Amino acid sequence: MRVAYDCWKADRLKHPAAAPNVAGLPAAADALIETARLMLRRWRPEDREPFAAMNGDREVMEFFPSILTRAESDALVERIEAGFTANGFGLWAVEAKESGRLLGFTGLSVPGFEAPFTPAVEVGWRLARSAWGSGYATEAATAALDRGFSAHHLDEVVSFTTEQNIRSRAVMERLGMTRTPDDDFDHPALAGHRLARHVLYRIGAARWRAGPAVSRRPEG
Ligand SMILES: CC(C)(COP(=O)(O)OP(=O)(O)OC[C@H]1O[C@@H](n2cnc3c(N)ncnc32)[C@H](O)[C@@H]1OP(=O)(O)O)[C@@H](O)C(=O)NCCC(=O)NCCS
Repeated sequence: MRVAYDCWKADRLKHPAAAPNVAGLPAAADALIETARLMLRRWRPEDREPFAAMNGDREVMEFFPSILTRAESDALVERIEAGFTANGFGLWAVEAKESGRLLGFTGLSVPGFEAPFTPAVEVGWRLARSAWGSGYATEAATAALDRGFSAHHLDEVVSFTTEQNIRSRAVMERLGMTRTPDDDFDHPALAGHRLARHVLYRIGAARWRAGPAVSRRPEG
């Protein structure tokens, strides 16, 4: 199965295509999403430079096999954009409304490997270091999940990360996603790598609609 993007292999996947479970979903009429502090939008040429800077930051990329070169970062933008065409959703560029600054990405994608939980739709995020600690990832992911469950009628969304990535796991937990240790898996693209062991979190449409266990919304 070839797909648009996944957390680890974004820079190695060659060609986007809709996964079986999302093929045929309607493209969102307007991909733009607005939240209290953020715009989630399609990618623009001027995003490439700040995006490459964050992909070249070792702290941002601590739980990835390597930082990205400018060319790899640009290629990732192209695959992300192609994913919108394939799936009708994607990893939106996240912009701060107040400053107009690109903060990173958050959104929905289709994992490009086979595992017990695939095919699936994943919610994911990557923000510049300076944008951490402000609730932006949770705010953006809340909006992305709303879009996925309402416009795309998804039954379930998953999220996964290497088990050491506590900040990412905390976002999953703030969203009300839950982990069953039996779902933990070794990422097939990272066989033998120190980051191979992954945790999987899930949230279903009914649970999402029932509302958050803790606030997902910005505090002020
Ligand atoms: C994962 C990542 C997006 C998490 O970012 P984050 O800033 O920790 O997460 P949130 O945006 O949800 O912010 C939550 C924090 O903001 C704080 N915060 C401050 N103001 C806030 C507000 N108005 N509303 C909500 N939270 C607020 C929260 O208290 C919390 O702080 P804490 O971490 O000290 O508990 C970020 O660490 C990252 O980009 N990492 C690198 C890429 C990566 O690993 N991606 C995942 C790969 S699978």
